[in-house]
Amino acid sequence: MSLDLASAPPTPPPDAENGSWLACIECGETHAPFDAIRYRCDDCDGLLEVRYADLPTFEDFSGRGVWRYADALPLEAGVTISEGDTPLYRAPRLESDIGVETLRIKHEGMNPTGSFKDRGMTVGVAVARELGVDRLACASTGNTSAALAAYGSRAGVETLVLLPAGKVAAGKVAQASLHGARILEVDGNFDACLDVVQSLAAGGEAYLLNSLNPFRLEGQKTIGLEILEGFRADDGAHPDRIVLPVGNAGNTAALYKAFRELVQAGALAVDEVPKLTGVQAAGAAPMVEAVENGADAVRRWDDVETRATAIRIGNPVNAPKALPGIRETGGTAVAVADEEITTAQRDLASEGIGVEPASAASVAGLRKLRADGVVGADERVACLTTGHLLKDPDAAAAAGRDPEPVSAAVDDVLAHLESTE
Ligand code: F0G
Repeated sequence: MSLDLASAPPTPPPDAENGSWLACIECGETHAPFDAIRYRCDDCDGLLEVRYADLPTFEDFSGRGVWRYADALPLEAGVTISEGDTPLYRAPRLESDIGVETLRIKHEGMNPTGSFKDRGMTVGVAVARELGVDRLACASTGNTSAALAAYGSRAGVETLVLLPAGKVAAGKVAQASLHGARILEVDGNFDACLDVVQSLAAGGEAYLLNSLNPFRLEGQKTIGLEILEGFRADDGAHPDRIVLPVGNAGNTAALYKAFRELVQAGALAVDEVPKLTGVQAAGAAPMVEAVENGADAVRRWDDVETRATAIRIGNPVNAPKALPGIRETGGTAVAVADEEITTAQRDLASEGIGVEPASAASVAGLRKLRADGVVGADERVACLTTGHLLKDPDAAAAAGRDPEPVSAAVDDVLAHLESTE
C-alpha cells in the first residue's frame, strides 16, 4: 500500500458504507467501517486508516469547529462540546528572536478540555456510539484520559483510563476524575499501559480510544485543515513548515493524511504541502532516532524520561503512518533537552500564550533547527502547541516566578517592592 503524497485517490471497495471504508496501510485489505470493532488489520495486523470515495476541497467546508469539515470525516455529526476553531496566534517577538519570516502558534490548548485530543474524541466517541459499545478505555499520559472522560460522560458511556502512576500532571488527573472516569494507576510507563489496554480491547472488555483507533485520527486531521485555512485567510500563502511535538505520532499521521487527501482532491499542490517536523524530548526520542537513521520502523525505548510527561513515550504506535509523512513532505525530526523545553515555555508565556511543557517542545525544536540552519530565515512556520498551561500547574509554577510573601499592610508592601525587583 502506498502512503505516497502523490498516490492516486482510492477506489471504493464493495464493502464501503456511505462512501467510506477502512483499509490496511500495509496490505490494502478493506473493511466496512462500522460492521465490526477492529483496530488493526485482520490479515496482517497492520494499522488501519479511513478512506473516502469523495474527497472534499476547501469549498466544501462550512460551519464552525471540527464539524465544519464533516465532508472529510466518516460521520455527519459527533458527540460535541464545541471543539476546534482554536486560535492561530502571532508571536512577533518570538518570530524575530528565532528569526523566521512568519511564526504562528496554533494553540490547541484552547479546546474544551484543554488539548487537541477533543478533536479526535468528538469523532471517536460518536463512532463508539455507532458501534453500540458500553465501555470506553484508553491508556494515557493524561490528556487523552481527560478528553475521553469528558466525551464519554457526554455520551453517557462508562469510561476507564489507565495512567502511569506518578507520571501524569495534576490538572489532567483532576479532569478525568471529575468527569467520572474510573482511573487505574498502573505501576508502569505509558507504553505498558497501552499494552494492557490493547489486550483488554482485544478481549472485548472495552472500546479502545487511543490514537491507534483510526477514527480518532480523522478528527485530528482538522488541525491541519484549520492551519491551512488560517494562513490562506491571512495572505493566501500556505505555511512552509508545521512543527509539532511527537509522542505516539498520531498528530503527525493525521496532519499528513489531511494534506494527502487535499492533494488527491486536487485542492493542494504537492509542493504546497507543509514540511512536517516532529519534536521529541531527548529522553524519549525513538522517532527522532528512526528519522535520523532513515529507518522504516522505530526501535522501542524501554526507559524514557522527560519533564514533558505528555510525550514520555517510548513506542510510538503510529510510526508506520507518521514516518512516511515526515519523509514525503521533506520534513525532519529533532530532539530537545528539558531545559530547552522550559525556556520555550517561558518564551511563549512572555507573549501571553500559556502552554504545558510538551507543547513548548515545538517552539524549542524550531529554535534549534533554525540555529542549526535546517530551517531557513525565509520560512513561514506554524508551531503546534498541544495542551494548556493549566494542565500541568506544577511545571508552570516551577518554570515561573516564585510568589513573594508580604504582610497585609501597605507600608510593608511598598517597602518590599522597593527593596526587591
Ligand atoms: N502534546 C500533548 C500535550 C499530548 O498530550 C500528546 C499526547 C502529544 C503532544 C503527542 O501527540 O501522540 O499525537 O504524537 N498525549 C497522549 C495522551 C499520549 O495520553 O494524552 P501524538
